Amino acid sequence: MKITIEESKQRKTKPQRGEPLGFGKYFSDHMFVMDWSMDQGFHDARIIPYGNLSMDPASMVLHYAQETFEGLKAYRAKDGRILLFRPDMNAKRFINSNRRLCMAEVSEADFIEAIRALVEFEQDWVPDEAGTSLYIRPFMFASEAAVGVHPAKSYKFVIILSPVGAYYPQGVNPVKIYVEDEYVRATKGGTGFAKCGGNYASSIAAQMKAEKLGYTQVLWLDGVERKYVEEVGTMNVMFKINGEIVTAPCDGTVLPGVTRDSILTLLREWGYTIKEEHLAIDDLMAAARCGQLEEAWGTGTAAVISPIGELNYKGEITTIHQFKTGPLTQRLYDTLTGIQWGDIEDTHGWVYDVMKNKPKI
Ligand code: COI
Repeated sequence: MKITIEESKQRKTKPQRGEPLGFGKYFSDHMFVMDWSMDQGFHDARIIPYGNLSMDPASMVLHYAQETFEGLKAYRAKDGRILLFRPDMNAKRFINSNRRLCMAEVSEADFIEAIRALVEFEQDWVPDEAGTSLYIRPFMFASEAAVGVHPAKSYKFVIILSPVGAYYPQGVNPVKIYVEDEYVRATKGGTGFAKCGGNYASSIAAQMKAEKLGYTQVLWLDGVERKYVEEVGTMNVMFKINGEIVTAPCDGTVLPGVTRDSILTLLREWGYTIKEEHLAIDDLMAAARCGQLEEAWGTGTAAVISPIGELNYKGEITTIHQFKTGPLTQRLYDTLTGIQWGDIEDTHGWVYDVMKNKPKI
């Protein structure tokens, strides 16, 4: 893949040091764009000034939502290195999402190199204050102008960058979660495992309902019986019950999270028994009632590790670990972020150095 570069003539003012970055409020000076067409395949890879995309009003994504995306971060280590975390996992998931939506599939190597090259070009945008990073948002959408329902004949693959702080205003403090028993997110055979905009569009009604009641996010139940725990709005979810870790299996309806996989790997190494199984919400609430639900947390790229301090299911409210971050949740957060920011030795080959991986010409 040959990437051409067009430099922006006007650079943006970067957020002030110490200013809370929030999540997805600021965008860097440049973006990556590459087109795909039936006859040319992927072509015209370019880094260009960040700006509006021009689209035909008949672009199929606007009508039938053929759109997929990814989320990962670039971290600035204390020694100045810029590190990505397991970008190969995002590349693989992007391919799987695109396959499910019958979209063009960018190769793992090109996906990673496009991100690497853009982050290298925009390296001044990787923040260095504690807990901050550069959020990377690759996405693809159907750009063909047509109104019949069919797989589009052209796509755009775009990457934008946003310096971010904590996803939740609460930071790493416990969040309150509303167990959603009316709306559902996914059913087997659907797109639950794919990272596509449509999944998030249909989740917003439940999110609004939870927010109105004072909750940060929803805990989804399975789409058939509304009985088994699946995932939280933008995170996978894990429970420590009687010393064991329980989380939903990746069998089609939950998102196969990169953070989820990394945390399960660490937990296995630390000797925990992991049960990837369908946990009934009634059993979870019963465990909470008799004091066996020791800790609960969500995992996700944006949210990292987010302790869950309260669950509300049909009006029954349970507080977890006195609404404080539990010791295992804290250990997971410290270890994972330590690896991501290069403070803890990476024994798994998870960390990807942006400069060291620059292709030799
Ligand atoms: C991420 O964790 O990267 C996500 O994609 C969540 C996002 C929808 C904010």
